[in-house]
Amino acid sequence: MVAMDKNQAELLLAWYRQNERPLPWRKDADPYRVLVSETMLQQTRIEAVKPYYERFLQTFPSIQDLAKASEEEVLKLWQGLGYYSRARNLRKAAILICSSYGGIMPQETASLSRLPGVGEYTRNAILSIAFQKPFIAVDGNLLRVYARLSGKRFSEITVVLKRDAGSFFSKAFPLSAPGDYNQALMDLGELICVPTGSPLCEECPLASSCVAHRLGNEESYPGKRTKKEKKSWDVDVFLLEMNGRFAIEKREDKGLLAGLYQFPNIPERTSRKKREKWLQERGLILCEETPLGEAKHVFTHLIWNMRGFRIRVQGKARGLLFLSPKEIREGYSIPSAFSYYLKQLD
Ligand code: ADE
Repeated sequence: MVAMDKNQAELLLAWYRQNERPLPWRKDADPYRVLVSETMLQQTRIEAVKPYYERFLQTFPSIQDLAKASEEEVLKLWQGLGYYSRARNLRKAAILICSSYGGIMPQETASLSRLPGVGEYTRNAILSIAFQKPFIAVDGNLLRVYARLSGKRFSEITVVLKRDAGSFFSKAFPLSAPGDYNQALMDLGELICVPTGSPLCEECPLASSCVAHRLGNEESYPGKRTKKEKKSWDVDVFLLEMNGRFAIEKREDKGLLAGLYQFPNIPERTSRKKREKWLQERGLILCEETPLGEAKHVFTHLIWNMRGFRIRVQGKARGLLFLSPKEIREGYSIPSAFSYYLKQLD
């Protein structure tokens, strides 16, 4: 297939109308809801997003509610979903929409693109799903479907590849149903033209015009990805305890886990002497320490190999916040990288 034609687009839409999943964000294509769901769905599986989406909308039913919320409140609701800059940007976008557009989502591509966190994918998803405009939201699923239908392999995702995939699907844009067309392609990629294991071609509405299916080598598309080796970091993590309270601190506003609260840590393997000195620099003395075991956390580009210590300390701390386990659990969004140690608070 060189591009989708009208007939194939109709077959796809008919399949979608029979097989559409009852996902929570499909009940209402309100632009704010589309912004929230599509932001959450970037880099995160549908099943993981569902409960977060429901809770988020219960807490912030309107864009005004989100714009009024503090960053901490928003991050708390995002805890465990990862990629926290998405949450920060979502709140900033809500603030901007309320301050510059009277609380109404803009419909112009340029205005949407100026919203924090709104890249081409999210912008096109909003334009098509909420405003019924003919834009294609190209994500990894769509690229795989494109590769198989057209018989084109790729080893890395480039701007040109995304543009080619976008025009492949846009040639026969069904103007009566832009949102459904996009979501049909997403569902096709997630349910039928699956990324791992054999695709379910016998159920695919486009199988008869699919190049990979004709050649019988569907699984060899999109092709071998050039994988970058992830860097590994050693990190020593400390549960510092003083009179039943534990220390947390805010990370820097830039970089990995920017601005989130965490357990104090040193990004290296430390000696007891080093830990004592580090504590001393923060006004504390080490009274007693117990190892808490090792844990590993895999980020997108990085792996943390952690070693934990529970350390009873005394003194007048500088730059650390000592709180009860309940206060930490209920009031702060400690990143899931630390969940092994968070479980050991008490
Ligand atoms: N993945 C990302 N956005 C989606 C949507 N709206 N429906 C199904 N899968 C998706």
